[in-house]
Amino acid sequence: MAPFIEAQDLYKTYHIGKVEVPALRGISFSVERGEFVSVVGPSGSGKSTLFYVLGGLTRVDSGRVVLDGADFTKLSDAERTRMRKSKIGFVFQKFNLLPTLSARANIDVALDIAGKNGNRDDAYLERIVGLLGLTSRLQHRPSELSGGEQQRVALARALANKPAIVLADEPTGNLDSRNSEIVLSMLRGSNRELGQTVLMITHNPEAAEFGDRVIHMRDGEIVPPERDPQWTGHH
Ligand SMILES: Nc1ncnc2c1ncn2[C@@H]1O[C@H](COP(=O)(O)OP(=O)(O)O)[C@@H](O)[C@H]1O
Ligand SMILES: [Mg+2]
Repeated sequence: MAPFIEAQDLYKTYHIGKVEVPALRGISFSVERGEFVSVVGPSGSGKSTLFYVLGGLTRVDSGRVVLDGADFTKLSDAERTRMRKSKIGFVFQKFNLLPTLSARANIDVALDIAGKNGNRDDAYLERIVGLLGLTSRLQHRPSELSGGEQQRVALARALANKPAIVLADEPTGNLDSRNSEIVLSMLRGSNRELGQTVLMITHNPEAAEFGDRVIHMRDGEIVPPERDPQWTGHH
């Protein structure tokens, strides 16, 4: 079977005035359907850029991203947007909730955006809200929630639509250990139950262990684990 996510020789350089900042320098890897892959690497190694590229939120200079058989890099903006909304659940380090909406309304946004392409399942949604300990928090606005609660709402929003792919960029980066555990267990449980393909970026080796496999990045490239100083001695 073809891989579910395929990254082929991705290059991306940012231009700030005359300064060129290479972020991705020939990244290739593939992820099977249902796999949970962690991506680790020091700050500035290109992890978030890779996250945006895989999610179709930014374009590469060259290379291809194939998601579920479709070449993401060749789709029109409209097609890419449709695919993103129907197939991908995003989790960000800074939660990205809409401040004026209640937790419930923030979660519903994902379902509304997915619209008829979505997999609305209210019983499922109530269950994940319960598993995430949010049942009594649904009327609260983000400013009335702790950081951990906000990230749990963001995770419910990402999973509500039962996306085939979950992309998470440092989802536990701003959380204490208890909330990190809840978020990671939920990601792992959802991956197992629904056969979701998960790609999680983290700089925490313990969080990375929740995945089936770890990809190490450094200076815009994939490197073997022994070249990642953070990793040395961990295994
Ligand atoms: N929007 C941007 N404009 C210019 N440079 C950027 C931008 N985003 C990231 N970079 C640069 O690209 C490199 C990779 O950044 P990033 O992908 O955020 O890495 P990481 O998530 O691993 O910290 C860094 O040198 C960073 O400064
Ligand atoms: Mg980052």
